Amino acid sequence: MVMRGSLVGRRTAQRFRQVAILAVGSAKIKLLLCCCIVFTLIVLGSRAASFMGWTDDTASLNRNSGPRKGYALLINTWKRNDLLKKSISHYTLCPGLDSIHIVWSEPDPPSDSLAKFLNHIVQSNSKDGRQIELKFDINKEDSLNNRFKEIKDLKTDAVFSIDDDIIFPCSSVEFAFSVWRSAPDAMVGFVPRMHWIDQSKGNAGHYIYGGWWSVWWTGTYSMVLSKAAFFHKKYLSLYTHEMPGSIREYVTKNRNCEDIAMSFLVANATNAPPVWVKGEIFEIGSTGISSLGGHIDRRSQCVNRFVAEYGRMPLVSTPLKAVDSRNVWFW
Ligand SMILES: *[C@@H]1O[C@H](CO)[C@@H](O)[C@H](O)[C@H]1NC(C)=O
Repeated sequence: MVMRGSLVGRRTAQRFRQVAILAVGSAKIKLLLCCCIVFTLIVLGSRAASFMGWTDDTASLNRNSGPRKGYALLINTWKRNDLLKKSISHYTLCPGLDSIHIVWSEPDPPSDSLAKFLNHIVQSNSKDGRQIELKFDINKEDSLNNRFKEIKDLKTDAVFSIDDDIIFPCSSVEFAFSVWRSAPDAMVGFVPRMHWIDQSKGNAGHYIYGGWWSVWWTGTYSMVLSKAAFFHKKYLSLYTHEMPGSIREYVTKNRNCEDIAMSFLVANATNAPPVWVKGEIFEIGSTGISSLGGHIDRRSQCVNRFVAEYGRMPLVSTPLKAVDSRNVWFW
């Protein structure tokens, strides 16, 4: 009995070992199976999506929103023709683009070869009955206010203001444009910034300008910079004709802060925060003024100066960020 007992015991132990090995094996097989199932579901899902008429392109979103109107690209450039050519070559491929306005403040007018090159790009990318308009807005005075000069007979309400050294994929631009159409009074952009109350000076209404790291740390923002933002064309005429001239003078003199001035203008008009849109950014130029020393101090001075002009702080903070839900997998 004892011997038998131990024999049974040994067999059971062996069996256990076999089972254990099988269990490990089956865990791998299960994982593999799960992968197969998930993959199949994705394939079926995308088939079903097109079968059910859920297509995944922005064009179909645009079709549902009545007569299609695009946006004007307002591009600020300064002695960097190679960047300008790159930018224009890229943005003319984006489907919503209606016209291009190049803010030109250099002492010499654009060269014939540059104009020829850009016109050629625009012509060859104007397809499907779409005719992109290309204009140089030539300014005698070199002032940062030039980028917000009123544009006469602009056909679209939407303006996409951009610097010549950053490029966004068309999908990001079109998404931001669709966000702007749902909130056409707001500034809708890719580069958020923040303002703080300076605690070291008490609550005496002294502010500090917060760069990207402040936004990253707190997840809130109160401005989107005009180097990459959509806004309504009415703000161009407000900036040029209604905004206090002292603010424009300050911008010209300090060669800085036209973007903060625009953020103040829109915030004062709407009493609402801007909208930060998630987008892929490609920097194609070398770094601009924001990398120079003392940048945050100068920006803070602008904020405090503009608060004094308005007699209040119009900027409104928000933690909201617009994300294209078609690109998000987990909720
Ligand atoms: C701010 O908005 C108010 C109300 O719309 C307006 O009356 C005022 O002129 C604006 N202030 C400035 C400085 O533009």
